[in-house]
Amino acid sequence: MALRITVIGTGYLGATHAAAMAELGFEVLGLDVVPEKIEMLSAGRVPMYEPGLEEILQKHVAGIEGSTGRLRFTTSWEEVGTFGDVHFVCVNTPQKHGEYACDMSYVDSAFESLAPHLTRPALVVGKSTVPVGSAARLAGRLAELAPAGTDAELAWNPEFLREGFAVKDTLHPDRIVVGVESERAEKLLREVYAGPIAEGSPFVVTDFPTAELVKTSANSFLATKISFINAMAEVCEAADGDVVKLAEAIGHDERIGKKFLRAGIGFGGGCLPKDIRAFMARAGELGADQALTFLREVDSINMRRRGHMVELAREAVGGGSFLGTRVAVLGATFKPDSDDVRDSPALNVAGQIHLQGGQVTVFDPKGMDNARRLFPTLGYADTALDAVRGADVVLHLTEWREFRELDAAELGEVAGRRIILDGRNALDPAVWREAGWTYRAMGRPKA
Ligand code: UDX
Repeated sequence: MALRITVIGTGYLGATHAAAMAELGFEVLGLDVVPEKIEMLSAGRVPMYEPGLEEILQKHVAGIEGSTGRLRFTTSWEEVGTFGDVHFVCVNTPQKHGEYACDMSYVDSAFESLAPHLTRPALVVGKSTVPVGSAARLAGRLAELAPAGTDAELAWNPEFLREGFAVKDTLHPDRIVVGVESERAEKLLREVYAGPIAEGSPFVVTDFPTAELVKTSANSFLATKISFINAMAEVCEAADGDVVKLAEAIGHDERIGKKFLRAGIGFGGGCLPKDIRAFMARAGELGADQALTFLREVDSINMRRRGHMVELAREAVGGGSFLGTRVAVLGATFKPDSDDVRDSPALNVAGQIHLQGGQVTVFDPKGMDNARRLFPTLGYADTALDAVRGADVVLHLTEWREFRELDAAELGEVAGRRIILDGRNALDPAVWREAGWTYRAMGRPKA
């Protein structure tokens, strides 16, 4: 009989994984502890913005006309325990409040809730990003809590999906990494991923700690690459060089590569910032903190970018206080094609200027609801044009395609002053300058 799969946690990772598993042909049951999410998903609607996800959900969610009916959602642990052969744990591991370490409470509680309800042989597969050593600890907990005879076993299978590309990254991953302790676990996971493996995704089999570390080290490498180019942007700015050209030129070297060399206001989101901090905290616990001191620098270069953008904005409005000035902010999400505003550099910059007395008006194509919830005291506009109306300076902080396609001349007619600061190096300076704007970017010559 075909494997039956459950997915625990229905955020960006879990909802996408559940839909992708149904797309691969499995019977899938998704669980979340938030009933409103389950209601939405059961109606074929996605609780967040993720391109392409709603389409595959609707293809498979039971009860939707014309669907395969392979995908269902529940809040019942009992149902999940009875249903699944393979259980994917996809819950959130945020940064602990006021600490670098990662908050494992959602993962721990998922294991505590699931294990006693297992009624048949089961493989529990952790996908969340966790501190190295967690899998070994959770395997012990699973053995203690699972009823005798269920033969419950753990595997660790980190997920590398990017928001905005979650569906593609899940169905066609660059690699599949599994940390296993038995042939049975490896065999089951090869069966689950037979489709992507057949299409050429490399399948890397390893132990628990290595599987956990692959994820944190990959994210640390990506964060380092971004901070490296942002450090070069600082030097370029001091020396009147052009970091965009520099990135293009060094990127031609295949050993360096072109990707993740976009200088600007730096990285944010629910992963890179908290993952590098949790990695440092864990290395400290292991007595290996010296190995990761460079990540402290990566983090601090990154946070400096936000402050630098605030200073560029201050300079643009006359160099003194923001009091009495109007600042338009284009972009609220941490990156385009997502509605996620967690640790968003754009909102951080907007918030700093607001706290210093500036009248800030934000527009974002998809992130407005989340931004309003997080920063209710900022001003919001319904369109980019309305945000820019009367502004003393315009800050381009998230590189949505629609901002690249804005009509610079039309915006120039409503702006108070034609000054635009490009915090993502994504606009075409020539277009804006031709339309009469003072265009300034990070790490590029002033004119
Ligand atoms: C990241 C990893 O890419 C993914 O593999 C992992 O599973 C989760 O964390 P994500 O957080 O969705 O994915 O976003 P990503 O595309 O990596 O971008 C992260 C941040 O870096 C964004 O704020 C983005 O704007 C910024 N960034 C990215 C840059 O500033 N410059 C770049 O060149 C690339």
